[in-house]
Amino acid sequence: MGEQLTDKTALVTGGSRGIGRAVALRLAADGALVAVHYGANGAAAQETVARIEEAGGRAFAVRARFGEPGAVDRLFEGLERGLADHGAKGLDVLVNNAGIISGHSIGQVTEDEFATLMAVNVSTPFFVVQRALPLLNDGGRVINMGSTASRFAVSTQIGYTVSKAALEAMAPSLANELGPRGITVNTVAPGAVRTDLTAGYTAIPEVVAGLEAITALGRIGEPEDVADVVGFLAGPRGRWVTGQTIDVSGGTWLGPLAPTG
Ligand SMILES: NC(=O)c1ccc[n+]([C@@H]2O[C@H](COP(=O)([O-])OP(=O)(O)OC[C@H]3O[C@@H](n4cnc5c(N)ncnc54)[C@H](OP(=O)(O)O)[C@@H]3O)[C@@H](O)[C@H]2O)c1
Repeated sequence: MGEQLTDKTALVTGGSRGIGRAVALRLAADGALVAVHYGANGAAAQETVARIEEAGGRAFAVRARFGEPGAVDRLFEGLERGLADHGAKGLDVLVNNAGIISGHSIGQVTEDEFATLMAVNVSTPFFVVQRALPLLNDGGRVINMGSTASRFAVSTQIGYTVSKAALEAMAPSLANELGPRGITVNTVAPGAVRTDLTAGYTAIPEVVAGLEAITALGRIGEPEDVADVVGFLAGPRGRWVTGQTIDVSGGTWLGPLAPTG
């Protein structure tokens, strides 16, 4: 068990599966008590909590379905109850990770689909931060899960791209506002990572080969590749980074790769 986050608390939204699960495991391994948030799949959340406990860490699950009325209230009721049950007060690390994707180009995106994307990927994290402000301890951390989708064109994910760009836009203003309290705010922007979210295309060898061909480090990301960077930003070593977007994509789409052979 690491000591970087001993006596600290963390909330990881969407901490039950994928990147969020790896982040929850990372922060717990570094010593934090972790609230593992989920929306629907309680079994996945319980598995994440069990894995943390088996490794000697501390965690509890919190359910709130983002996009439904009252979700932020439910999240914080569960969070505050869980913290109290564990004798903890206040929040040190907030990771806004829960998110959804939509694989449509402009002609296909419906108003309902766009509204849901914005509700889950933008409005909810916005109001989660607002609601967390009185709970956040001085010296705390806010980390939002962006995407390389806001850096380069992905026309078949235009609604998602717009939502991630909006989320990314929160960090600089929030960093300025929360700086006097020693709270840092950053965006982590992964490229393609193997999770349920991307299972549709990471199962297709031609698509994977295409992604590898535009990635300096030549492979698709794993959740732990992202979680380690979140762990860095969350811990004391990340103290002097704020208001930034950290690209965590193995160098995806930097420019033409040098020909090999
Ligand atoms: N995978 C990638 O390639 C990639 C790349 C760049 C950025 N990202 C971003 O990284 C984040 C995590 O992605 P992932 O690939 O790990 O996704 P994932 O495997 O699909 O997991 C999504 C997580 O978010 C939760 N969630 C989804 N919709 C929710 C809702 N309406 N209310 C509450 N919780 C909800 C899920 O919980 P339930 O199952 O219980 O609903 C789950 O814990 C997202 O913000 C995504 O945009 C991913």
